[in-house]
Amino acid sequence: MSRLRDDLVGRAVYGAPEVFVPVRLNTNESPFPLPPSVAEAIAAALIDRVPTLNRYPDREATGLRVALAQYVTERTGVAVSAASVWVANGSNEIFSQLFAAYAGPGRRVLGFPPSYSMHPLLASATASGWIDAEPELSGHGLDPRPLTRGRVERALRRHQPEIVVLVSPNNPTGAGVDLATVAAACEEAPGLVIVDEAYAEFTDAPSAVTLLADYPRLLVSRTMSKAFGLAGARVGYLIGDAELLAGIRLVRLPYHLSTLNQCAAEVALAHRGAMLEMVSEIRRQRDRLIEGLGGLGCEVYGRDANFVLFGGLADSGATWQALVDRGVLVRDVGLPGTLRVTAGTDAETSAFLSALAEILALAGGDAAGSDAAGSDSGEGRRL
Ligand SMILES: Cc1ncc(COP(=O)(O)O)c(C=O)c1O
Repeated sequence: MSRLRDDLVGRAVYGAPEVFVPVRLNTNESPFPLPPSVAEAIAAALIDRVPTLNRYPDREATGLRVALAQYVTERTGVAVSAASVWVANGSNEIFSQLFAAYAGPGRRVLGFPPSYSMHPLLASATASGWIDAEPELSGHGLDPRPLTRGRVERALRRHQPEIVVLVSPNNPTGAGVDLATVAAACEEAPGLVIVDEAYAEFTDAPSAVTLLADYPRLLVSRTMSKAFGLAGARVGYLIGDAELLAGIRLVRLPYHLSTLNQCAAEVALAHRGAMLEMVSEIRRQRDRLIEGLGGLGCEVYGRDANFVLFGGLADSGATWQALVDRGVLVRDVGLPGTLRVTAGTDAETSAFLSALAEILALAGGDAAGSDAAGSDSGEGRRL
């Protein structure tokens, strides 16, 4: 008999809609293909490795962990050794392994909605309990403002979870969590504190890596999917106490990271200057989004990532559809009145801004008098 686990029955599958329109700004990837010189270097290195595929990969991904440790040291100014770095197939697998090793049946993980939707799903896949921390203000639904220290402390005191997850900059709000809040979480938490820094390179704020020496139960997760533009390769990593990382080895699949992933990531890291060159351009496009959306009368939330959550829409579902109809895909994250858009190339960002301007102008035509009159209150958008 094939019967799905009881706790999985009725669960929804993760999935940003895959709609193949010309401008895809819905999954926070880099809009730029790899620089040709790096693509060629990766291809050449892969050609060398392909004949060795008869053998399993380096189970410890030693070369890649050394390269990641160097990269993190360079970026954060904190001396990190390969022993304090773990690597897996994207930070999704990092979280899956973490929950399998340190949460699991009968234990609970605490998160702060609105945040990255995969964390609760990975908790459920590993049969871990998931707790959504209470919103700051009761009756306000999902509060898209930056996370406060008070909210974190209260939730930790109340729930006493085995793991707490903070996302900085947060997805979908784009707002960073300040280090004082992370430190307060480390002081208050009875168990592990994980900071997901998937978008760290898009902000100048200091990394939680700078707190590792003070808090041995703190772990920082990062990825090569975003700023490095390597989402297709699936490489995420975790930085923290080597003994905690040893626990992960008990649950990971043997040889979990393929020779091809390891090779591609190592070469990309060796060319990090070229790979990260586009980050400043992506930030420039993010700033254009913030300015353009403000100019259209939309409320803009955090400014720290490679995407922007914007609000003030009376019907975000209809706006999403109207954008798709104009060849632009953004993300409806389920926060009423808001949508999330990833910074694209200059042309993609312009296409989004002009499509949205057209949609809002059409809606303004519909609702003209009352919307114009009501717009000071932030209300009244028809779409
Ligand atoms: C906050 C956050 N963490 C992790 C990830 C997943 O990254 P990866 O591609 O490394 O699995 C994402 C992807 O959108 C994200 O937004």
